[in-house]
Amino acid sequence: MWSAPGKVFLFGEHAVVYGKPGLAMAIKPRVFVTVRKARHPPKVKSPYIEHCFRELGVNGSVYIHSQLPSSSGLGSSAAVVVSTLAAINEEFDLNHDRAEIADIAFGIEKKVQEGRASPTDTYVSSFGGIVLIKGGSKRRLPPQTMHLVIGNSLVSHSTSKMVEQVSAFRKKDPLIVDPILDSIEATCTRALHCLSDPKILGRYMDINHALLDALGVGHPSLSRLVLASRAAGAYGAKITGAGGGGCMIALCPKRHKSRIAGAIEACDARAIITSIDTEGVRRENERKGPRQTGRQHHH
Ligand code: PMV
Repeated sequence: MWSAPGKVFLFGEHAVVYGKPGLAMAIKPRVFVTVRKARHPPKVKSPYIEHCFRELGVNGSVYIHSQLPSSSGLGSSAAVVVSTLAAINEEFDLNHDRAEIADIAFGIEKKVQEGRASPTDTYVSSFGGIVLIKGGSKRRLPPQTMHLVIGNSLVSHSTSKMVEQVSAFRKKDPLIVDPILDSIEATCTRALHCLSDPKILGRYMDINHALLDALGVGHPSLSRLVLASRAAGAYGAKITGAGGGGCMIALCPKRHKSRIAGAIEACDARAIITSIDTEGVRRENERKGPRQTGRQHHH
């Protein structure tokens, strides 16, 4: 059994598509995958799993247990692919290292998502911690204690649709959109210098949120969760990921985490209280089963 974490964007989503920096972080909820050798291909409907076996040229059975909601922008498909590849790798003694697993996983996401995937999710899920993405390069930053509450609006959204929408807006009105992208870049570069100062970091998150709203990727339910979190004591709050639905994050004082989670759930959304995951993909002790990481409410 192997497991891999999900992720959130702390800063820079959408702007990363235009070569600006983005900051992503691995979070505690994980996907757990058990693989055993078998003569036949796995009986699963997931194209992600099929591709994992096909890519590594073996047959086996899989059992998947996920603590991450799917299609919410928290990187659950990447975590499934990364942990499945790592489990196959061990079961069949294939000797791929972590970086190779991350690369193969990105290739699979790209195939299944037809070119729209970014390497962020698979990289963060493989290595854990905080990662700075810019252009094609990725840099791991020193880990920081961060208390986060994720609010899942439960409003469905499509990442590719949101990315296309921003692209169309930029073509139509570059005079408005380009300065917004520049400002998002500035919040990200400023944030890099105050990752250990939640009060200041929270302010930059608030600004990044307003800029994403201005880009047109907001949603009334996300605004509501952001405002409710701030009113309940968050240092700052913003959309995370593609927007238009999906999730937001609130940076919280440790003592107010559950109050902020309660405020989010009072808006008919789901809250996940979490923090940084520094480990990335790892082997699990099968007899113990999935470790209880990342508390989820109402699941
Ligand atoms: O997949 P999500 O919801 O984390 O959003 C992706 C972030 C974008 O910047 C909007 C797109 C991308 O590929 O980086």
